[in-house]
Amino acid sequence: MRKIQIAIDGPAGAGKSTVARQVASNLNYLYIDTGAMFRALTYEAIKANIHFSDAAGLKKLLENTEIHLIQDKVGQKVIVNGEDVTEAIRSQEVTNAVSKVAVHKEVREEMLTRQRFLAKNGGVVMDGRDIGTCVLKDAALKIFLTASVEERARRRFEELLSKGVSTNLDELQTEIELRDRQDSEREIAPLKKAEDAIVIDSTNLSIQEVVNKILGLVKERN
Ligand code: C5P
Repeated sequence: MRKIQIAIDGPAGAGKSTVARQVASNLNYLYIDTGAMFRALTYEAIKANIHFSDAAGLKKLLENTEIHLIQDKVGQKVIVNGEDVTEAIRSQEVTNAVSKVAVHKEVREEMLTRQRFLAKNGGVVMDGRDIGTCVLKDAALKIFLTASVEERARRRFEELLSKGVSTNLDELQTEIELRDRQDSEREIAPLKKAEDAIVIDSTNLSIQEVVNKILGLVKERN
């Protein structure tokens, strides 16, 4: 089978990472979680005390930040300058700040170069917000994965609960809405469905059903 590029975009908490990882594993493709790259930079900015509005400072920081996404049997590890930040980049602090870091042209240009380099050989599933519209404009398959905001908040609530973190459902929904708004309204590479993307609404679908749908679409393209 031809090894293609698959772009999966959509709002926060739509299940992109879980679905993308399973599709990649099924096809023996590389999975690239671009959100993790922006989260890694945000984590480093907090550590280095660089203000989220300081575009030049963030650019410089990114130039000195090596980000490795490593696949293993249990999932994905995120290593930044040799430190395992897999858990740390999922903190509430990073989650609430990442859209402010991702807004800057200087940051996005460098991320774009890195992301295109990682995808250059095909056989890749990349998820994010601007993959179909910007990073991999020529991807053979583009998916826009969405779900109602209530359902996305509920899933996040359950996920946190399973990790022993109890949160407030309404607060989670407000945070998700805010992040979506910031990501959709930014000037550069906003969250948007690519014209040629196929919309999958996962509100009433299981992860397996979404994965199967995408695998079916991959087959059609081969
Ligand atoms: O996918 P995840 O929720 O981990 O993404 C975290 C944040 O990174 C998003 O809310 C967005 O601000 C930013 N992001 C982006 N472009 C991408 C992927 C993520 O701006 N391609």
